[in-house]
Amino acid sequence: MTIDHVRSILQDIVGTTHVFPNPEGPRLVVRPGSTEEVSRCLAALNQHAVPVVALGGLTGLVGGTDLFGAVVGLSTERLNKIHSLDPLRKLLVVDAGVKLEEVHRFVSERGFRYGVDFGARGSCTIGGNIATNAGGNSVVRFGMTRANVAGLEAVLADGRILSDTGGLVKNNTGYDLKQLFIGSEGTLGIVTKAVLRLTRPSHDTASVLLALNSLDDALHVMTTLEHRCGPSLLSMEIMWNRYFKTVSEAIAKGGPPPLSNAFAFYILAQAEGVDEEATAQDILVRALDGIDGIQDSALAHSQAHQEAFWAIRDGSEFIETGHPSVLSFDVSMRPQDYSTYVEKVERRLSERLSNAVPYIFGHLADGNVHFMIGHDNTVPDASHIIETCVYETLSGYWPTSVSAEHGIGREKADHLWRSRSGEEIAVMNAIRGTLDPAGILNPHVQYRARPAGLAFQA
Ligand code: LAC
Ligand code: ZN
Repeated sequence: MTIDHVRSILQDIVGTTHVFPNPEGPRLVVRPGSTEEVSRCLAALNQHAVPVVALGGLTGLVGGTDLFGAVVGLSTERLNKIHSLDPLRKLLVVDAGVKLEEVHRFVSERGFRYGVDFGARGSCTIGGNIATNAGGNSVVRFGMTRANVAGLEAVLADGRILSDTGGLVKNNTGYDLKQLFIGSEGTLGIVTKAVLRLTRPSHDTASVLLALNSLDDALHVMTTLEHRCGPSLLSMEIMWNRYFKTVSEAIAKGGPPPLSNAFAFYILAQAEGVDEEATAQDILVRALDGIDGIQDSALAHSQAHQEAFWAIRDGSEFIETGHPSVLSFDVSMRPQDYSTYVEKVERRLSERLSNAVPYIFGHLADGNVHFMIGHDNTVPDASHIIETCVYETLSGYWPTSVSAEHGIGREKADHLWRSRSGEEIAVMNAIRGTLDPAGILNPHVQYRARPAGLAFQA
């Protein structure tokens, strides 16, 4: 099967202008305009065993869409309609290629809210969010993407369309198949449509930035805020000193940051108000009253002021650009284990790669933090040393995950065994083999078993 032959088959399905050669990555990109077209493309590619990768917003961090081995990239960009809003059941039906930010805008104009939110909102797509089971800054309130999807339509490798878009709250008739596709990183099918669960929007919101001296104090503040704010708490994020200092200075461009950068930890929390009697600010101020350990604080009520705080939390691109190379990690463990874990990783890094600079931030309340570790490329196996420091140290704890909210992709494939047993990996591959026997879907995403000689848990 030549590439020209593949091209002409796809052009017959979607029209000549929607198949084009690609200088980087997959040799061809196809842009189907409907679920039917996705189905016909996959059926044809499957028949000829041509590898294909689904392309969403390309905002992932684990190489899930790196196109090694894939011949065709299937872009969901023309699947971009918002179909319907059911105000009674608070459900929104959207195509997979709709951007997260468009969903937020559309529903907020109509008096609703979609709970999943994070920094890449302007470019990531709903299909990509579903494929990766994206988390983000409000998991503490709304859960991961999985908890916010009420229905799905997906096209299987052989072109069959699997559709569960009824959005019923209760339907215990056998397996909940849609859950298999959420977090499957495009290995079981291509998501074409989703039914999203909405909630009512906030009366108002307020954010507070808190400075702390220790992780124990941070956990105490978090537990207290969770308890006192109850369902008003929308987000509660943490930044270690180097992350806060670097990003806030980059953003402030010489002006003063919202809090002194001399503290070890910063919490950024957001709450929503109930009504005029209990505004977000009232709720936060009351919740913060008398909590031990808070060294300094800054409260933001206006939208612009809150956005300035959140720009620091979401400003990881300033770390990205600050070093010749930066490795990103997305680990998970019990929140109370982070104080010794981070200390050990930092100690091992300083012993083995003195020019490595770790930045740490993320979702401590969910037990999930991101490490970004910069280095200057002067040590040839720096990446390997850094990975070893992060993952071997992780193996001393339980439970842990090597990928909390970003998936396995290509980058984490060699470490999957650290978080999943041999039996779990075997079942994953068995399901995959059943739904995609020719192995055409995202072949570069691999659920690799533990290499011989390495222990599952240290
Ligand atoms: C975040 C993304 C990287 O938390 O998950 O900013
Ligand atoms: Zn995150």
